[in-house]
Amino acid sequence: MPLDSNHSRRDFLALLSALGASNFATVGAWAQQTMPLRRIPTTGETLPIIGLGSSKVISEISANGPEPVEAILRTLVEHGGRVVDTWPRNPANDSGFGQIINQPDLRDKLFVTTKVSEDGQAGVDQLEQSLKSYGRQTIDLAQIFSLTDLYTHWPTLKEWKASGRARYIGVTVSQYELYEALEEFLGRETPDFVQYNYSITERRAEERMLPLAQDRGIAVIINRPFMNGEYFQRLAGVPLPDWASEIGIHSWAEFSLKYILPHPAITSVLTETSNPAHMAENAMAAYGQMPDAAARRRMAAYIDQV
Ligand SMILES: NC(=O)c1ccc[n+]([C@@H]2O[C@H](COP(=O)([O-])OP(=O)(O)OC[C@H]3O[C@@H](n4cnc5c(N)ncnc54)[C@H](OP(=O)(O)O)[C@@H]3O)[C@@H](O)[C@H]2O)c1
Repeated sequence: MPLDSNHSRRDFLALLSALGASNFATVGAWAQQTMPLRRIPTTGETLPIIGLGSSKVISEISANGPEPVEAILRTLVEHGGRVVDTWPRNPANDSGFGQIINQPDLRDKLFVTTKVSEDGQAGVDQLEQSLKSYGRQTIDLAQIFSLTDLYTHWPTLKEWKASGRARYIGVTVSQYELYEALEEFLGRETPDFVQYNYSITERRAEERMLPLAQDRGIAVIINRPFMNGEYFQRLAGVPLPDWASEIGIHSWAEFSLKYILPHPAITSVLTETSNPAHMAENAMAAYGQMPDAAARRRMAAYIDQV
């Protein structure tokens, strides 16, 4: 992965400076590393641990042009990332996205997902349309969004995998209310991937869902690491605790991501952003020091009383 280009190093230095952190030991370490990877249990293929949730920026392609999405994707790739989670809804925006991901410098560097979010035949049509829009014969990962029409779509996804239209198949949830139905599904079926909401402010997946996926050999993608932005609103004006810098944390974004990333069940964490500087900051949270179990407990206790 092209992590040590001068461009990336300049971005990284600029970002560190903006964050008020000028630790050149960290800069040197980052420039020599690739983003940490985690294995997909069903195949052993690896994925970088920070990815992009792209719903908002893709929905704005018609209005804003392709440049914002291109800048974010290039930042992701330059910092060693690969996973892009999507949710097709509007053919004009989705085919704009297809043109972007098929540009020569991006085409082979991304792991692109899609989702089915409508019932019955409309959902099947949605899957077919996303392959057309994205200009792909094979999608890396096809997922059922929030268990929509689960027992209709699951056999379809299995057919997609068998026929080579999806390399991997999975299901998503982003709210606790669906955990029971998901657990019931995981008692009968073994998807390649499952997607859960999990963050320092939404920790319930730790109790059963993350251990369950780990025991069953299912790759885990995490959504809502920042509660769709509510996390930053809640912490506006709140200073980081003094001890955060001792465990390598210099921003609230890093505080949530570095809490999430050490969990061994997790394969990749989606951070949604429309801002390349935020993409760089989020990707860089994958590098360097990670909190140990005691530090993670301290972080959770701190956030609970903010
Ligand atoms: N059921 C499902 O399948 C499901 C449901 C929800 C989400 N998801 C997936 O998970 C992805 C992420 O979850 P989410 O949508 O809840 O978003 P999120 O990543 O929890 O939060 C996104 C918000 O955080 C802000 N942000 C991101 N990085 C930042 C940084 N470094 N500093 C300050 N602000 C930052 C973004 O604003 P800026 O644009 O200004 O950076 C945006 O407002 C989605 O895009 C989607 O792919 C799936």
